[in-house]
Amino acid sequence: MRRKLIVGNWKMNGSLAMNAELLSGIREGLAGIDCDLAICVPFPYLPQCQAALEGTDVALGAQDVSAHAVGAYTGQISTRMLLDFGCKYVIVGHSERREYCNESDELVANKVQRALAGGLTPIVCVGESLYDKEEGRTAEVVGRQINTVLSVLEEREVCDIVVAYEPVWAIGTGKTPSPLAVEEVHAMLREQMIRKNPDAIECVRILYGGSMKPGNAEELLHMPDIDGGLIGGAALKASDFLAIARQA
Ligand code: G3P
Repeated sequence: MRRKLIVGNWKMNGSLAMNAELLSGIREGLAGIDCDLAICVPFPYLPQCQAALEGTDVALGAQDVSAHAVGAYTGQISTRMLLDFGCKYVIVGHSERREYCNESDELVANKVQRALAGGLTPIVCVGESLYDKEEGRTAEVVGRQINTVLSVLEEREVCDIVVAYEPVWAIGTGKTPSPLAVEEVHAMLREQMIRKNPDAIECVRILYGGSMKPGNAEELLHMPDIDGGLIGGAALKASDFLAIARQA
């Protein structure tokens, strides 16, 4: 049975004061939670979050990483720098970076390789646009995205990634696909990974992201191939984030 994983993606939100309140709310509310938890925060807040999470089982992550190990890449952040601040995870290929930073499938795949080589667990984001959905191209688009990543991985590395399916049209909108529709995409993703490594039936966790809230988390998280959530807005309120985790 795959242990559920709930990850908060703070995106470009927070301040030292706001973070202190959010982090203490998370720390104080962990009793009785029986899933893996992580928060992926903006780079400047990694030290604050690392210190605040000390002594808890909440893992730390970042929201991006360079495809390069080290060198003349102004403004980029390396895996080694993230490890210096205790990061375990790094989100790679979030739709907002694919869109606003023109991140191609190939660049995302290279970042996944680098994250693995650098000792981080990449959370590999895939998801279709509203246009793709309306054109009936969800499976084609999401299949292309995951297969570009799988094409650069060794068979054994498939078990070292986490995948997040985030339909772009559900992010920040309050809309979500039905649990059955999400399960269908997750099952297709798992099938693609099983072709590369049969162990993927058990070793890879596939998270759902896109307006997961305390009110809809339970029905989503009870689907067989939904192994957790990648949470945006609800992660900025400790009570909501923990309420979702309690349903995992
Ligand atoms: O990475 C998670 C994020 O894209 C989902 O955002 O606000 O719809 O939960 P939200």
